[in-house]
Amino acid sequence: MHPTRLSAILSLLLASTVAGQWFFDPPPTVTLDNATFTGTSSSQNTDSFLGIPYAQPPVGDLRLRLPVRIANYTGNFSATAYGPWCMQHEMSLAQPISFPTLGVFYVNSTTAVTSAAGTAEDCLTVNVIRPNTATPSSQLPVVFWIYGGGFGIGGATFNGDGQVIVERSIAMGQPVIWVSLNHRLAAYGFLASEEIRAAGVGNLGLQDQREALRWVQRYIGSFGGDPTKVTLWGLSSGAISASFQMLTNGGNNEGLFCAAVMQSGAPLPVGGVEEGQAYYDDMVARTGCTNAPDTLECLRAVPGPEFKAAQDALPGFFAYQGLCGYPFFPHHDGTFLVDNPQALVRQGSVANVPFISSSCDDEGTGFSVDCPNNVTTEADFQKYLKDVCFKKADNSTIAQLAALYPADIPSGSPFNTSYNNALTPQFKRIAALVGDTLFQAPRRFFQNALSGKQIQWTCLSKRVKDTPIVGSNHASDLPIAFGGELTDYVINLATNLDPNGETVPGWPERRAEAPNILVFLDTFLGLGPRTKIDQDTYREDQMKALMALELQYPV
Ligand SMILES: *[C@@H]1O[C@H](CO)[C@@H](O)[C@H](O)[C@H]1NC(C)=O
Ligand SMILES: *[C@@H]1O[C@H](CO)[C@@H](O)[C@H](O)[C@H]1NC(C)=O
Ligand SMILES: *[C@@H]1O[C@H](CO)[C@@H](O)[C@H](O)[C@H]1NC(C)=O
Ligand SMILES: *[C@@H]1O[C@H](CO)[C@@H](O)[C@H](O)[C@H]1NC(C)=O
Ligand SMILES: *[C@@H]1O[C@H](CO)[C@@H](O)[C@H](O)[C@H]1NC(C)=O
Ligand SMILES: *[C@@H]1O[C@H](CO)[C@@H](O)[C@H](O)[C@H]1NC(C)=O
Ligand SMILES: *[C@@H]1O[C@H](CO)[C@@H](O)[C@H](O)[C@H]1NC(C)=O
Repeated sequence: MHPTRLSAILSLLLASTVAGQWFFDPPPTVTLDNATFTGTSSSQNTDSFLGIPYAQPPVGDLRLRLPVRIANYTGNFSATAYGPWCMQHEMSLAQPISFPTLGVFYVNSTTAVTSAAGTAEDCLTVNVIRPNTATPSSQLPVVFWIYGGGFGIGGATFNGDGQVIVERSIAMGQPVIWVSLNHRLAAYGFLASEEIRAAGVGNLGLQDQREALRWVQRYIGSFGGDPTKVTLWGLSSGAISASFQMLTNGGNNEGLFCAAVMQSGAPLPVGGVEEGQAYYDDMVARTGCTNAPDTLECLRAVPGPEFKAAQDALPGFFAYQGLCGYPFFPHHDGTFLVDNPQALVRQGSVANVPFISSSCDDEGTGFSVDCPNNVTTEADFQKYLKDVCFKKADNSTIAQLAALYPADIPSGSPFNTSYNNALTPQFKRIAALVGDTLFQAPRRFFQNALSGKQIQWTCLSKRVKDTPIVGSNHASDLPIAFGGELTDYVINLATNLDPNGETVPGWPERRAEAPNILVFLDTFLGLGPRTKIDQDTYREDQMKALMALELQYPV
């Protein structure tokens, strides 16, 4: 009997019970080059094609090299399971954290977040989720998700659930296709040194993203997608990544994307790859490569576990130097990024696509819970700023900045929480400064610099403000993005290059003369309005000071 007929009968028999009809249909397939990829029916409405390699495995001699284009596909492939995530940076907490609900980055003890698919150096795969009505002539808009994890942890399925987005897009009558990827992380993706610059192999994680975007151009049409309608979407390091995709190549985006959504991440003011030299040298020493004629060649030949152990010995986000001093942030390398990203913005090296850039109110709280417990006095605080975020700034500059972030508890972050949440005497102050330094000031800089030049929107989440200690923490807007209002805005943007639509409140563009910002309000007991339009001018003096400082002294 024809499987569809059989399933129709069975579904009648099963009436409204669990197993849906789709379960009995033949699995979906797609033809790429001369190959057949078999996916799964991930719901009644969607197909998934998972774990498809988009570049040659970056193993053996391809470790620490630019991603290499995948050969034409031939044969039959099973695309029914996610591929392993890229190797993680397993980092220790400076001390055990005993607070509940610290947000997505808060992992226990020495372990990294984990994936059901495990981790491997051979990790460069993409995943596609599409409406199951899509055919090669559908030309549906595409959202290209870049996960967050500080450039050190995470993977395609870490903090974005594409199934939710595709289902919602179908329900809205504006179907989109979801693409997610794994890209290299930490020492595998962001090792930095003069050797790295000379070899042109900096920012490999960003290069991986670019290669995956080229893969989308070649192949998404076969899934029913429109390669001219790709919206980048990222959270945290994924958002910073999306912004760097806008800045690279002199701002020429090669038609790879037409819009961007960047949640909690904007062009981070980073220094050159040479800033990572001490960490590079440390890894070289730990792997016995110090006397090698070519240390980079030597690192390529180091057995996997030794390379990983040398990486894991370097400080993580939770060490004293915290997020500001993370060893594996991107740097400008002369290849992917030819200057401090903020200088590139000023030079106009920016892809001219409409974009959304957003923040959470309390971006710095989660990253500050563990590092600053020996920072209790004004002098400690100023030393901390110098040690961690502004190593090259002189003491009077640091003192001026410190004065803009006073020690009085109600001024700190979680903002607008009075005397609550003061974990340590300087905690709320450090959280305010770290959040603004790494997230809010770079966003404001980016948006101000492009005001009047590019179409843009911005929003701020004050939801879940009552979360103890961390308030509206970094990534606390994930529920808005995956099943909340932001979902609809993103689907509208991907479809019409404008986030506005029937299902959501109006969202005016952020303009030079009116820097409108959509605020997702914390709603006590669900009463009252859930959003309002405000102006993106809060903490103006602090932001101006930080923007000036960061141009001069990148983190
Ligand atoms: C597909 O196979 C045919 C016949 O073997 C060959 O001529 C063609 O080049 C192949 N196409 C690709 C994209 O590999
Ligand atoms: C892949 O296929 C294209 C034709 O679709 C052909 O031009 C190209 O040479 C092939 N590449 C390789 C590496 O076989
Ligand atoms: C792919 O699968 C089909 C159907 O199962 C089979 O006929 C064909 O020989 C397979 N091709 C290869 C290259 O294995
Ligand atoms: C964290 O790790 C400690 C020690 O392994 C364990 O006792 C504790 O239950 C863990 N906490 C959580 C929230 O997993
Ligand atoms: C806090 O401890 C770190 C080491 O964990 C040290 O480097 C730093 O100097 C200390 N800060 C202060 C203000 O004592
Ligand atoms: C700057 O401040 C640090 C402590 O934060 C202190 O150790 C250092 O001596 C000061 N430098 C000057 C030039 O005053
Ligand atoms: C909330 O805190 C901000 C500091 O970011 C301040 O500018 C604002 O006035 C406060 N709002 C209220 C209602 O207290």
